[in-house]
Amino acid sequence: MNARPVKISAVGTHVPERVVTNDDLSRTLDTSDEWISSRSGIRERRIAAEGEAASDLGAVAASRALEAAAVRPADLDLIIVASLSPDMLFPSTASFISGKIGADGTPAFDLSAACTGFIYALATGASFVASGQAEKVLVIGAEVVSKMIDWTDRGTAVLFGDGAGAVLLEPAESEDEAIVGFDLGNDPAGVELLNLPAGGSRNPASPETLATGQHFIKMNGSEVFKFATRVIVKSGREVLARHGRRIEDVDLFIPHQANIRIIDAAARKLGVPPERVFSNLERYGNTSCASIPLCLDEAAAAGRIAGGELVLMVGFGAGLTWGSCLARMGELKRIQE
Ligand code: UT7
Repeated sequence: MNARPVKISAVGTHVPERVVTNDDLSRTLDTSDEWISSRSGIRERRIAAEGEAASDLGAVAASRALEAAAVRPADLDLIIVASLSPDMLFPSTASFISGKIGADGTPAFDLSAACTGFIYALATGASFVASGQAEKVLVIGAEVVSKMIDWTDRGTAVLFGDGAGAVLLEPAESEDEAIVGFDLGNDPAGVELLNLPAGGSRNPASPETLATGQHFIKMNGSEVFKFATRVIVKSGREVLARHGRRIEDVDLFIPHQANIRIIDAAARKLGVPPERVFSNLERYGNTSCASIPLCLDEAAAAGRIAGGELVLMVGFGAGLTWGSCLARMGELKRIQE
């Protein structure tokens, strides 16, 4: 239960300029636009430039959210970054971003929960605000997954994309514009299903790990698919039940954007009508921790978050982790293009 209500007051996003279409990928991989779009719903993705890292995208998204909210970087009390493609193992990407946006002195840390990271970070940031430990928390999902991909592995290369999204959390005036609650979970039985095996302390970098491609994302797609459809429904129902809401009360459903078949199956099982489901997967692919804030921004731009909507966000990913956030939205400030 919130000690004081917390709102998501502003959003900012940024994606790399370069667009890579399915046809582009089929020039170097044994795949096709037909396979990728029918099996995943993805048509194109943004890919970062050489030398462009997660903090470069995250800093632009963060600055845009702050500008939209008319909040100075120095006024932030905390910066939390969720990413599975951090600039480095350490220091944190949050530290890099704080330097780039001019928030020197602000506490900043990264949080690791793979693609569910944005929801975990939202829950963490909201707790700081709810408890009165912070007034303004910036939560950022920033990914350059393209640099963790084996571009010869068609099972993963076609799915991911790069991007970043940031939201500002602040105390809310009332429950009418506040986060309702969260459901978070983790199933450690799934650690082998989706991971990046080497470069950490379990399999340190060596000529052998390099030669055997252990520094790239490995995924058992069909098992993750089954987990995802199951857990989105379970977690979505859990957060609704916990807070006495029904699926009919949800105005907008924003699931993590990994595969349109996962989204459609989960929405059907949950009983969310298609017109209440938000998806932009087609244009970005799976941007991991950035997918939900990218959707929030586009939903606000399209007038689908105008104030008063009950929004259900559900993430899932390696761990295997899952997380839901139910939020009554007030005005979601964003920079108008
Ligand atoms: O953020 C969370 C992380 N990830 C996910 O949520 C991913 C979840 N999983 C998925 O989205 C799907 O499982 C995939 C899109 C990865 C794969 O779709 P699928 O319908 O489960 O296909 P599959 O893995 O069962 O493979 C079917 C066939 C196989 O060929 P055979 O054995 O039937 O001859 C694959 O080798 O499709 C083949 N295939 C491809 N063909 C063309 C796999 N990837 C490709 C490809 N292009 N890119």
